[in-house]
Amino acid sequence: MITSSFLTSVAVFALITLHVGALDTFIAAVYEHAVILPNKTEIPVSQDDALHLMNKNIDILERAIKQAAEQKARIIVTPEDALYGWKFTRETVFPYLEDIPDPQVNWIPCQNPHRFGHAPVQTRLSCLAKNNSIYVLANMGDKKPCSSLNSTCPPNGYYQYNTNVVYDTEGKLVARYHKYHLYSEPQFDVPEKPELVTFNTTFGRFGIFTCFDIFFHDPAITLVKDFHVDTILFPAAWMNVLPLLTAIEFHSAWAMGMGVNLLVANTHHVSLNMTGSGIYAPNSPKVYHYDMKTELGKILLSEVDSHPRVSPAYPIAVNWSAYATTIKPFPVQKNTFRGFISRDEFNFTELFENAGNLTVCQKEFCCHLSYRMLKKEENEVYVLGAFTGLHGRRRREYWQVCTMLKCKTTNLTTCGRPVQTAFTRFEMFSLSGTFGTEYVFPEVLLTEIHLSPGKFEVLKDGRLVNKNGSSGPVLTVALFGRWYTKDYVYNSCGTCNPAVTYLLISTVLMIVAL
Ligand SMILES: *[C@@H]1O[C@H](CO)[C@@H](O)[C@H](O)[C@H]1NC(C)=O
Ligand SMILES: *[C@@H]1O[C@H](CO)[C@@H](O)[C@H](O)[C@H]1NC(C)=O
Ligand SMILES: *[C@@H]1O[C@H](CO)[C@@H](O)[C@H](O)[C@H]1NC(C)=O
Ligand SMILES: *[C@@H]1O[C@H](CO)[C@@H](O)[C@H](O)[C@H]1NC(C)=O
Ligand SMILES: *[C@@H]1O[C@H](CO)[C@@H](O)[C@H](O)[C@H]1NC(C)=O
Ligand SMILES: *[C@@H]1O[C@H](CO)[C@@H](O)[C@H](O)[C@H]1NC(C)=O
Ligand SMILES: *[C@@H]1O[C@H](CO)[C@@H](O)[C@H](O)[C@H]1NC(C)=O
Ligand SMILES: *[C@@H]1O[C@H](CO)[C@@H](O)[C@H](O)[C@H]1NC(C)=O
Ligand SMILES: *[C@@H]1O[C@H](CO)[C@@H](O)[C@H](O)[C@H]1NC(C)=O
Ligand SMILES: *[C@@H]1O[C@H](CO)[C@@H](O)[C@H](O)[C@H]1NC(C)=O
Repeated sequence: MITSSFLTSVAVFALITLHVGALDTFIAAVYEHAVILPNKTEIPVSQDDALHLMNKNIDILERAIKQAAEQKARIIVTPEDALYGWKFTRETVFPYLEDIPDPQVNWIPCQNPHRFGHAPVQTRLSCLAKNNSIYVLANMGDKKPCSSLNSTCPPNGYYQYNTNVVYDTEGKLVARYHKYHLYSEPQFDVPEKPELVTFNTTFGRFGIFTCFDIFFHDPAITLVKDFHVDTILFPAAWMNVLPLLTAIEFHSAWAMGMGVNLLVANTHHVSLNMTGSGIYAPNSPKVYHYDMKTELGKILLSEVDSHPRVSPAYPIAVNWSAYATTIKPFPVQKNTFRGFISRDEFNFTELFENAGNLTVCQKEFCCHLSYRMLKKEENEVYVLGAFTGLHGRRRREYWQVCTMLKCKTTNLTTCGRPVQTAFTRFEMFSLSGTFGTEYVFPEVLLTEIHLSPGKFEVLKDGRLVNKNGSSGPVLTVALFGRWYTKDYVYNSCGTCNPAVTYLLISTVLMIVAL
């Protein structure tokens, strides 16, 4: 009938109009950059020398940006510290900083370079985005003048921030994010509170944070859970730490655990174990790069879903403790022993047989493993481990970890130490734990630091299992849980506020000087 088909056409037309320009998928790019570092100095260089070095780095980023645009990428992420490196004091980083305004000012630096004072780096980045018609994320330093009347204002009269900026295809500044969780960065200040920075495009909603931020609830988890971003842009200068925290291993696991796309651009610096970038989708890594052999940069490109949550490939919701809390535990092993991964004390038990069902517990937290090896290699030993507690030297982050890993040698005292090669393949494995948290990141790392895309999955009852035939040679299989509400936060002592700490230190210094 005319009327109904007319109505249908109107409806279809309305739908098309609504989705005009909206994309189901897009091509993303990340660039792992081998930073040209400044010479060591205790005396700040001139602003011109600082700019000269940054331009040398941007020359290299420019080639990557052009290449990404030629391959039809919509967006490119470049790494943390990519313009000047990481070794600075507050004073020596100062000549590298620019005052970056709030994106609300609606500014295209490429068209209006002098609107906010001296801004050559912002202008060049904006022009690169505009001229190549691509979104560009870069990491640079922001300085914000403050009044000496304000007790939190540092003595030089500026707050200094580790900052990500994003320019759109017109060269407009659309996002600015100040890193919150600094990691040994005395040159930068901690912003007053975590910033929740998002922006919308025709190819999805984006959120931003930086490197060490990924271990904490804010802004990382909030961006995903409350702001429902589709894709996270994540620049990093990440030092790999085996067996649980190599970049590709942890970042791919976070993307899967959180159900978002994660675009990771790491800095490349072999002598500091910095390498490992990737484009990770919720169901599987799309592309990744790990290179300890050369000093070269590397561009990665991949097509990803604009809205992964509505894609048919989106993983099912998982109850991480359902299996582990409802089964009858396997006989707890008699020969459980203590061991360390970095500074964390695990309880381990050895995988003696070719196949078996094992449980190992620490306090009330238990990990279960069912496994069958293809062939037990004579000179290789694997253990199942459990850890629940505050992690590391700083002991601020609460971790719950179940892991099956290869020991460095057949001497059990080496279990948990870094090892890079393995030969043992598993016909099947199934790992689960009695997690108290809903934030669990599933890791599988194979020999020579490789991922295992498409060869494992998480079932809705929380079991991490291999699929599609036997595994490659295994270094680590882990369920890495973060229990944010049990993190250690300083109470009213006051030292939680970095500005106050700073004040205390300067007061002490003043007293010493007097
Ligand atoms: C480092 O110092 C050398 C020698 O003085 C000089 O040639 C070079 O340009 C400097 N590099 C940078 C990045 O400033
Ligand atoms: C971008 O284009 C402008 C002119 O539109 C040109 O002056 C500038 O050199 C170009 N910049 C880059 C980085 O390609
Ligand atoms: C001091 O600076 C902080 C951060 O910019 C600001 O939030 C606060 O209001 C300022 N305090 C005073 C007294 O101006
Ligand atoms: C993005 O769009 C959503 C609605 O689709 C809106 O709620 C949100 O505020 C927008 N975010 C930004 C940063 O514009
Ligand atoms: C790099 O990793 C290796 C092996 O994991 C470790 O022995 C070494 O200490 C690390 N280097 C740095 C600078 O952390
Ligand atoms: C997960 O499963 C366990 C065991 O069936 C159940 O007790 C728990 O309530 C479930 N958790 C959630 C968040 O559904
Ligand atoms: C397991 O861990 C707990 C808590 O750290 C510890 O008290 C216990 O001795 C460990 N068990 C073994 C066998 O090492
Ligand atoms: C492990 O347990 C499963 C049932 O839960 C059983 O079928 C299997 O035979 C057990 N494997 C070994 C090696 O004990
Ligand atoms: C294992 O290593 C420890 C310390 O690294 C050493 O004391 C012990 O003798 C070794 N055991 C064997 C059997 O080699
Ligand atoms: C299954 O494994 C084979 C060989 O390892 C691989 O070629 C294939 O792509 C995998 N299939 C899936 C669905 O991951």
